[in-house]
Amino acid sequence: MLRLVLLLNLCPLLLATPEYFDSVPALTCCCNQILKVPAQSESKCAVLSSRSNWSRSFGFSNGVCGLSASDKCAVNNEPTIFKKQTEIQTPADPSKPVPGYELQVDNRLFWVFQQRLTGDVLFNRTWDEYVLGFGNVSTDFWAGLTLINEFGKTNRTIRIEMTTVDNEFYWQESANFTVGNASTNYTMHVDQYNAYNTSSDVLYFHSGSQFSTIDIDNDLYGGHCASERGGGGFWWANCQMINPNGFYSSTVVSDPSSNFKYVAASGVQSYKTLQAIKMMLQL
Ligand SMILES: *[C@@H]1O[C@H](CO)[C@@H](O)[C@H](O)[C@H]1NC(C)=O
Ligand SMILES: *[C@@H]1O[C@H](CO)[C@@H](O)[C@H](O)[C@H]1NC(C)=O
Ligand SMILES: *[C@@H]1O[C@H](CO)[C@@H](O)[C@H](O)[C@H]1NC(C)=O
Ligand SMILES: *[C@@H]1O[C@H](CO)[C@@H](O)[C@H](O)[C@H]1NC(C)=O
Ligand SMILES: *[C@@H]1O[C@H](CO)[C@@H](O)[C@H](O)[C@H]1NC(C)=O
Ligand SMILES: *[C@@H]1O[C@H](CO)[C@@H](O)[C@H](O)[C@H]1NC(C)=O
Ligand SMILES: *[C@@H]1O[C@H](CO)[C@@H](O)[C@H](O)[C@H]1NC(C)=O
Ligand SMILES: *[C@@H]1O[C@H](CO)[C@@H](O)[C@H](O)[C@H]1NC(C)=O
Repeated sequence: MLRLVLLLNLCPLLLATPEYFDSVPALTCCCNQILKVPAQSESKCAVLSSRSNWSRSFGFSNGVCGLSASDKCAVNNEPTIFKKQTEIQTPADPSKPVPGYELQVDNRLFWVFQQRLTGDVLFNRTWDEYVLGFGNVSTDFWAGLTLINEFGKTNRTIRIEMTTVDNEFYWQESANFTVGNASTNYTMHVDQYNAYNTSSDVLYFHSGSQFSTIDIDNDLYGGHCASERGGGGFWWANCQMINPNGFYSSTVVSDPSSNFKYVAASGVQSYKTLQAIKMMLQL
């Protein structure tokens, strides 16, 4: 403990607060040194770590984000919730991955990892893109399975908010949401919903599923949900209940149950086309 305290005093606290999306300055010294930067929350610290091309682990404590080039270093003695993985150290195009954003709901903090608001961004994308993440944080985006796995290593509450094209707002929450790592094909587990005003549980139906995309079919269906239902990657079990990453339409799609390509959900009184959806994990 004494040694850690000593190490903490070695690196000066940066005075400037890095922007959420900025790259992190490099650590100039060696391992066992921690670069301390101010951060508002653990998830912002996680994002800073994922933005840097050298940070391998991070820890968050009392507004201080500690970034380290070594897996073994952290800001304090406690184990870190998020452990950095090599895939997110050097994104091919730093402007591509979208780390999502934080949202306060009823005094609880959530991390939004998926959003469709405008249809600006195409979601018919490949496995690699769903792993890395894509889109625009102010409109439509997917934060990427690597980061979702980082957050989903521990049981978390997931909240889904949906607005239909006729302006009805629906939400549901379920406990114990987890997403496995790449070697499980990012398998998702979730409990049945426990707070909601949807009429049925749109997510539990897919619990236990691996991820599937237009180029990788891991679903339980004889066909290929991702490519047949609008191109969206998802934890497809079978092809119904919800299609959060399908084609976007801001107007009612006439027969979504037989031609289920669009962003739509059946938990909101039969199938309804959605003009907006957000999926988020409680921090
Ligand atoms: C990290 O990125 C900076 C700026 O893009 C670059 O100068 C530096 O060489 C990179 N470091 C490593 C270890 O890749
Ligand atoms: C995605 O959908 C758009 C619009 O329909 C289409 O132009 C594009 O070719 C599709 N991309 C893939 C990878 O299927
Ligand atoms: C993201 O969306 C906003 C709002 O529509 C727009 O102003 C901005 O230019 C977009 N950014 C990119 C990188 O497309
Ligand atoms: C669902 O609940 C929210 C409040 O949590 C409410 O604003 C909304 O109107 C409800 N939706 C319906 C369709 O009743
Ligand atoms: C996490 O959720 C799973 C599935 O519900 C459960 O079996 C496990 O006990 C939970 N772990 C913790 C620490 O709550
Ligand atoms: C699921 O999460 C709830 C709330 O966090 C917890 O009380 C419960 O023990 C978990 N379920 C299982 C099966 O562990
Ligand atoms: C991925 O998860 C599996 C199952 O939880 C675990 O056995 C394995 O060690 C993990 N692999 C990595 C690289 O973390
Ligand atoms: C992951 O997906 C690939 C491609 O579909 C498949 O070959 C592999 O067996 C899957 N892995 C597991 C653990 O099921």
